[in-house]
Amino acid sequence: MAVDFRPLSFALGAEVIGLDLHSPVSEVEWKQVHQGFLQFGVLLIRGQSISREQHIAFSRRFGDLDEHESLPMDRDATLPVLLMVTNDQKPDGGPSNSRYTGQMWHSDMSFTLAPALGSLLHAIEVPPVGGDTLFANMYLAYDTLSGRMKQMLEGLNGVHHSERKNSGLSATWEKENQRLNPPVAQPVVRVHPETGRKALYIGEKVKCFEGMTQEESKPLIDFLIRHATRPHFVYRHSWQANDLLIWDNRCTSHLALGDYDPQCRRHLERTTVLGTPSGHVAEMEVTV
Ligand code: SIN
Repeated sequence: MAVDFRPLSFALGAEVIGLDLHSPVSEVEWKQVHQGFLQFGVLLIRGQSISREQHIAFSRRFGDLDEHESLPMDRDATLPVLLMVTNDQKPDGGPSNSRYTGQMWHSDMSFTLAPALGSLLHAIEVPPVGGDTLFANMYLAYDTLSGRMKQMLEGLNGVHHSERKNSGLSATWEKENQRLNPPVAQPVVRVHPETGRKALYIGEKVKCFEGMTQEESKPLIDFLIRHATRPHFVYRHSWQANDLLIWDNRCTSHLALGDYDPQCRRHLERTTVLGTPSGHVAEMEVTV
């Protein structure tokens, strides 16, 4: 059966119709999925009560997987390519490290030297209402800037930090996180290696532009995020259990809203596909 796509919003995203990951994906199906991935930026496959092994095997079709060395506190102990996004308590009864994961506009692993190509997030259990995720089309964000603004952004690097909003990490983990992940400078405009299109690469993990103070940088960072995430550039995903959501981190940005009752379980598992090397450890930040 041919794979089909049903657009999910004006800006980005499509539901994949006619694909079942319980059985191996043929080469023809894979080519269609890959084409859809490049075209729509976000793909949704519903009804995938697949095993972890099936999730991982399908993810490998996109490329090599990140072993999440930079996020050891969130990865599964036996399958490090699986990152837990969960509010399940830790075995010692403490709150989960990852209960606030993604609650800032970001592109996955932007704070590393191998920012993610794509991510595949599998919903195991989700709250009856809320816990939604927003996605923004960063090609549209770039394309709709004025010519002078585009010129100004050329050659500018954003300094990405690994810290999380409401991190909830213990002080020890927070320190370890900072040790493992020094701030990394990434171009504010990146060329997508497969489509050749330019996309804005900015989010709330960017604290300043390289060579500029935070005070100088903040107004422009705030404008760019506000511009990129305006409602008509965004798709809002309402999760169902067994959804597999796949996104291209090179041309989209996302935000977990956290709009749900924390008493309800929200457990998702993510694989992260390694992207091409990008960026460098940031120069000392200018503070005055
Ligand atoms: C993520 O940023 O990978 C998690 C998104 C979510 O929990 O909705």
